[in-house]
Amino acid sequence: MKIIVAKNYDELSEAAYGVIKEVVLSNPQAVLGLATGSSPLGIYKRMAEECTEGKVSYKEVKTVNLDEYVGLPPTHPQSYRWFMKTNLFDKIDVLPENTHVPNGCAADLAAECKRYDELLEKLPRNVQLLGIGNNGHIAFNEPGSPFDGGTRIVELDKSTIAANARFFESEDEVPKKAISMGIKGIMASEKIVLVASGSNKAEAVRAMCKGPVTEACPASILQNHPDVTVVLDEEAASKLYFKLW
Ligand code: GLP
Repeated sequence: MKIIVAKNYDELSEAAYGVIKEVVLSNPQAVLGLATGSSPLGIYKRMAEECTEGKVSYKEVKTVNLDEYVGLPPTHPQSYRWFMKTNLFDKIDVLPENTHVPNGCAADLAAECKRYDELLEKLPRNVQLLGIGNNGHIAFNEPGSPFDGGTRIVELDKSTIAANARFFESEDEVPKKAISMGIKGIMASEKIVLVASGSNKAEAVRAMCKGPVTEACPASILQNHPDVTVVLDEEAASKLYFKLW
């Protein structure tokens, strides 16, 4: 696990963007695994800027996202499909048909999970971008999720619902379930970049990097992946080091 501690969010975004840019420049047909949440927004901003400047093109790139709320249609402002469209897909030259987000409104959700796992087999990712939940979740794999699990319907933890309530009018409006890529699917990516900022992530970051590899902290499995870069700001990294004075 390579750990980079950046001075602030802009530097963190630049460092993580650098990894993604290198992948796309070396393979214009790369498959990118993408994430939602506030953490990747700075990376998406840099992707949009350099694409507009003609420095990086996503014309042949394919994308697969980690997760989606169950019951929110793609046009719902808090759906992850909408988040991706407005924060990234509309701002780069990726072809809409090459972007994939699980369908949280599928009539048959079990079939949708199967379809998504088959898609992941067909589109092996060159790099997977991740954030981390305050409780150590990755995608919506909450503590206790099986390390060998595939895409499935998950119940969101109370703490996740509370953390994500800031995007909704009230906590009651946050969906209670999501469709999430499993940990097995995340680990299948050739390369992984995880970004975390802020002191509220410090304990989860410590457990991920320094704690035991345990399903109690889903992100700890990343210690077993051969190519992970963790990019943190100083607050998120604050529990990684012993203080000598
Ligand atoms: C959500 C997403 C995760 C994300 C996490 C942290 O629950 N499913 O993929 O990593 O939130 O979000 P943020 O970056 O906003 O703190």
